[in-house]
Amino acid sequence: PTIHVITPTYSRPVQKAELTRLANTFLHVPNLHWILVEDSQRRTPLVTRLLRETGLNYTHLNVETPRNYKLRGDVRDPRIPRGTMQRNLALRWLRETFSPNNSQAGIVYFADDDNTYSLELFEEIRKYQAVLKDWRVSSFCGPMEDSGSQPMRSTRKVSVWPVAFVGGLRYESPKVNAAGKVYGWKTVFDPHRPFAIDMAGFAINLRLILFKPQAYFKLRGVKGGYQESSLLKELVTLNDLEPKAANCTKILVWHTRTEKPVLVNEGKKGFTDPNVEI
Ligand code: UGA
Ligand code: MN
Repeated sequence: PTIHVITPTYSRPVQKAELTRLANTFLHVPNLHWILVEDSQRRTPLVTRLLRETGLNYTHLNVETPRNYKLRGDVRDPRIPRGTMQRNLALRWLRETFSPNNSQAGIVYFADDDNTYSLELFEEIRKYQAVLKDWRVSSFCGPMEDSGSQPMRSTRKVSVWPVAFVGGLRYESPKVNAAGKVYGWKTVFDPHRPFAIDMAGFAINLRLILFKPQAYFKLRGVKGGYQESSLLKELVTLNDLEPKAANCTKILVWHTRTEKPVLVNEGKKGFTDPNVEI
């Protein structure tokens, strides 16, 4: 199956660096389709060029989050979580592009532009060493080893795994019993959420997205941490979840956040050449 990776992104000084890092990861993954959705009025030249130059298979979309939705802290108008409209547009694109009955097998994964993704999330170690071999660097790899992590590509409905650096913990994880069933959530922040899991911690079979055309991330009235649940509860129950990453014992994705660069010496009118893209 093709992995459709959905990434919301917005313009800021580190955007090109983030997208470069992400593209460098995805270039190691076979059969990947990157759906990059800009939070902007138009598709920008920077992102257009970057995508074209990566050589990846991609779809470039855009939708701007209305400015009043971005305001934080107003209790009467709770903000829309970041990237939500962009992810929903990508879901709509998938439904308009693929038909439920005769579509190619696919997996859908939401990958924010600032996280860190292990290749093992997408392929078994054995497979990605074979990819490296194609690049004639196999002599640098150790012995072939099957990690048994069962990557997201084998997702039948919805697969889940731990995510590092969220909820004030080293990692949050689904709770998995001896029979390999998910029965709850190892989180401190609100473990009673229907799906107490970060955006980076699950993948969905494309067929499920196509057969449940009403399922979207809710835009309004979603409490913090409930965004993921708002989509997942439309698609599955706890009992359907398939634990990956060696029964949720391995960390294959990190919710890293990039520090804002200090640009104070640019001054009001700027110092460096504004025509140089960063
Ligand atoms: C956490 C979660 O990991 C996100 O999945 C969730 O969307 C977010 O909280 C939220 O609920 O607001 P966090 O690191 O705080 O993530 O958020 P960002 O990484 O800043 O944003 C998530 C994604 O949305 C990124 O891919 C980012 O580029 C994009 N984004 C952010 C926009 O498209 N527009 C914005 O104005 C801000
Ligand atoms: Mn982030």
